[in-house]
Parts: sequence; structure tokens; C-alpha cells
Amino acid sequence: MAMTVVITGGFGTLGAAVGRAFKAAGANVGLIDHALSPTDEVAREFTGQCLLGGVDLTSFDAAQAALRTVAAKFGGLDALINVAGGFRWETVEEGSLDTWDDLYSMNLKTAVSACKAAIPLLIARGGGRIVNIGAAAASRGGLGMGAYAASKSALARMTESLAEELKDRNITVNAILPAIIDTPVNRQEMPDADFLRWVQPVSIANVISFLVSAQASAVTGAQIPVTHRC
Ligand SMILES: NC(=O)c1ccc[n+]([C@@H]2O[C@H](COP(=O)([O-])OP(=O)(O)OC[C@H]3O[C@@H](n4cnc5c(N)ncnc54)[C@H](OP(=O)(O)O)[C@@H]3O)[C@@H](O)[C@H]2O)c1
Repeated sequence: MAMTVVITGGFGTLGAAVGRAFKAAGANVGLIDHALSPTDEVAREFTGQCLLGGVDLTSFDAAQAALRTVAAKFGGLDALINVAGGFRWETVEEGSLDTWDDLYSMNLKTAVSACKAAIPLLIARGGGRIVNIGAAAASRGGLGMGAYAASKSALARMTESLAEELKDRNITVNAILPAIIDTPVNRQEMPDADFLRWVQPVSIANVISFLVSAQASAVTGAQIPVTHRC
């Protein structure tokens, strides 16, 4: 039986790349996103899968309804990949206090609410996998990175805590810590950078695929940097 994987932030650059990797491996894929609809390309690529737009994952009710919809379509859930998130560069002195709430909501609360919604579905299946997307840049707060690094650090601690909570239920919980990803948005925002040094979405998708595989059943509570391009 094909496994079913939900990817939050699935209409974005990394989320779609992760979805592509699982689809190529024969999985049923649920893409859930805040954006109302995917790009035409993503909609075409994922024909027959479960694409749910307009879902604000900071709401537990919305997360639960979306995850239940995917599980009902495919007969269960085996893995949740929390890709939904966002970034803002702002100094403390000139920035807004609201940014701290916004990034906390986008990068932490979305993952907590999707995890809460997924746990009973994974348990019903006898176990499963959760993978969160943190950030290598959160290991130390650089200039203008305070709110982002704080929110992704909180996600790292949540990952470790949930791994402990679920370790006797056959559910692993790990985090990937990407460096700057080679995305169209990053290329546009940093036109003078050396793009060829940035990690590719497919490289991150490959590590996530490993964490979801049976071969990674002994790995839980890990924070795995994925930063290199060769
Ligand atoms: N890009 C990088 O260089 C980089 C580096 C390290 C880590 N990361 C992390 O990797 C992940 C993906 O990055 P990306 O570049 O692929 O970003 P992206 O293209 O902006 O995709 C993120 C998606 O998450 C969605 N989202 C945000 N808030 C949400 C909410 N409340 N409910 C549901 N969906 C929500 C966004 O929808 P809306 O836009 O409609 O809100 C967007 O479609 C993020 O967690 C990011 O922090 C990225």
C-alpha cells in the first residue's frame, strides 16, 4: 500500500520539491498551504493528489480539518512534513514588536497545530514520521535575525520535546536545518550572491525522504543541517 505524506507549505518552493520527491517514490501526497491556490505548474504536476489551499495552520481547527481531509481521501496518514514558515529581516531597534508574534506563529505555531492534528492519525496507523523545517541560521542570532532565529530555535526545542513524547509510539520527530536555499525569491532578493553555493530544494527533499524511510527508524529528536552544494 502506498504511504501518505502531508506537506505543509506545500505550494511553496521547498514544499513542492518535497512533494515531488514523495510523488516520484509512489506516495500519496497532500499539499496544504495558506496560499489560496498553487501555481499552474504545481496544480498540473500534482493532479490526482490532495491540494488544499487557504488553510491557516495557526488555527488548530483548520489544521485538523485539512489533515483529516487528506487522511480520508487516501485511507490514513504516515508522515507529516512541516515546511510552512516564513522569514523577515528586521533589527530590534527599528523593527516592530508584531514581527516577533508573526514569525512565532508562522514558524512554530503552524507546526505545533499540524503535529497535534497529525498525532492521532499517525497513532491509528501504528506509527509514523514527523519532519520539521528549521534553519541553520537559527543556531546563532545574526544581525536582523532575532525574531526569525528565536522562532526557529523554538521549533528546534519543540522537535526535541515531541520526539521524547512520541518515542514509545513508533513515531519519530526530526528537524532539517537548511542554509540559504536556491529559490527564485532568494535569487531575486540577493541578485549579487553566488547562487551556486546555495543548497538545492531537491537535496533537502532527499534527506527528508531518508528520515521518512524505514532505514531511519532509529533517528529521532535530531537537528540535521542540510547546507551544502556540490
Ligand atoms: N528559503 C530559504 O532560504 C530557507 C532557508 C532556511 C529555512 N527555510 C525554511 O524552509 C521553509 C520553506 O521555505 P520556502 O523558501 O520554500 O518558502 P515559501 O516558498 O514562502 O513557502 C512557504 C509556504 O508556507 C506557507 N505558509 C506560511 N504561513 C502559513 C500558515 N499560517 N498556514 C499555512 N501555510 C503557511 C506560505 O503561504 P503564504 O505565502 O500564502 O503565507 C508559503 O506557501 C520555511 O519554513 C522556511 O523558513 C527557508
